[in-house]
Amino acid sequence: MEQINIYSAEEVVSRIYVEDGMEMLEACLKPYEHVFVVMDANVAMNCPVAYEMSQMMNRHGVPGMLVDVSEEAKCMETVMDICGWLLENGADRDALVLGVGGGITTDMVGFAASLYKRGVRCAYVPTTLLAQVDAAIGGKTGVNFGGYKNMLGTICQPEFTYICPQVLESLPMEAFQAGAAEMLKTFIIEDNGNYQEAVRLLKDLADDFVAICQGATLSDGEARWPEVLLPRLAELTPLIAAAARVKAGVVSRDQFETGERRKLNLGHTFGHAIESLAHRHRNDIDHGHAVALGMVYAAQLAEKLELAEPGFAAAIERDLDSCLLLIFNPYSIQDMAEAMTKDKKAEGGKVHFILPRAVGDVVVCDMAVEDVVALF
Ligand code: GLY
Repeated sequence: MEQINIYSAEEVVSRIYVEDGMEMLEACLKPYEHVFVVMDANVAMNCPVAYEMSQMMNRHGVPGMLVDVSEEAKCMETVMDICGWLLENGADRDALVLGVGGGITTDMVGFAASLYKRGVRCAYVPTTLLAQVDAAIGGKTGVNFGGYKNMLGTICQPEFTYICPQVLESLPMEAFQAGAAEMLKTFIIEDNGNYQEAVRLLKDLADDFVAICQGATLSDGEARWPEVLLPRLAELTPLIAAAARVKAGVVSRDQFETGERRKLNLGHTFGHAIESLAHRHRNDIDHGHAVALGMVYAAQLAEKLELAEPGFAAAIERDLDSCLLLIFNPYSIQDMAEAMTKDKKAEGGKVHFILPRAVGDVVVCDMAVEDVVALF
């Protein structure tokens, strides 16, 4: 089992375990006397991990709660439901709350744990690729509020994050693609030779998926991994571990996002604008495709500012397209600019744009949105 640490002032504040299989989870939980499990109800219905976990919980008499998970349910009411359930079940200050699900689940469970009795410990079993490479690492917790995403939240490190790529076998392809976009984002921020390898594998998997599931598209909400491709999930393990290492390093250097951690928002400034416009117009553009488009705009902006070599944005676009991560963006730069200025990350009229100068070399530029529009 690979262990990756997150440090604060040279102390380990969170551990990430990457392991093919769920067997080691029980050993990871052994030091904690009072464990409370909060699981996404959809994971409980569809994910093989749920069966293994329920057996383990029964053996140890661990209480479990199921939560309905969606962007709408990512709110204070659900957090209060979790806190109420912990109280009813006698959770004390020594409790460990284990969140099992995707990023919405781990964000809400971490937030509830950070509030309950002024803060109890939490740990995560992320069940989506996005949560495995990003959301369940680094301690950001939160819920949507006042019409804005993640407006209320805390930064509170989980004791550990247990990453098992096999749990992805029940993940819809659309959600898989969202994680694939975040994985490539991570390697554009810090390459270590992983970017090209990730593009190769993700392209290969996308090609196989299309060849096997003739007629299904990757963004079809129902499309799932075909059985013959399941053994290939293990090929993702080294890349998931590499992405987790990059994120753990960034968070160790800047836990509270005063500088370097902002780089993890590569693709998200434009991407969130596209997502919020799509939400407003009831268009179906999911997070992964919005972030992929956002990375192309960020690369184009870097070129326009002469930070990146001519042709860099086109190369990124080709790579993302080969992994079937790119779709048509129906929104103009003016539409996106309006949405960006409403983003909570706009500070003093300026927005942090994360700009790639090359693969593995990303800078943060604070720019007025009007200046960006003028360049496009
Ligand atoms: N998801 C970006 C971060 O954790 O900072």
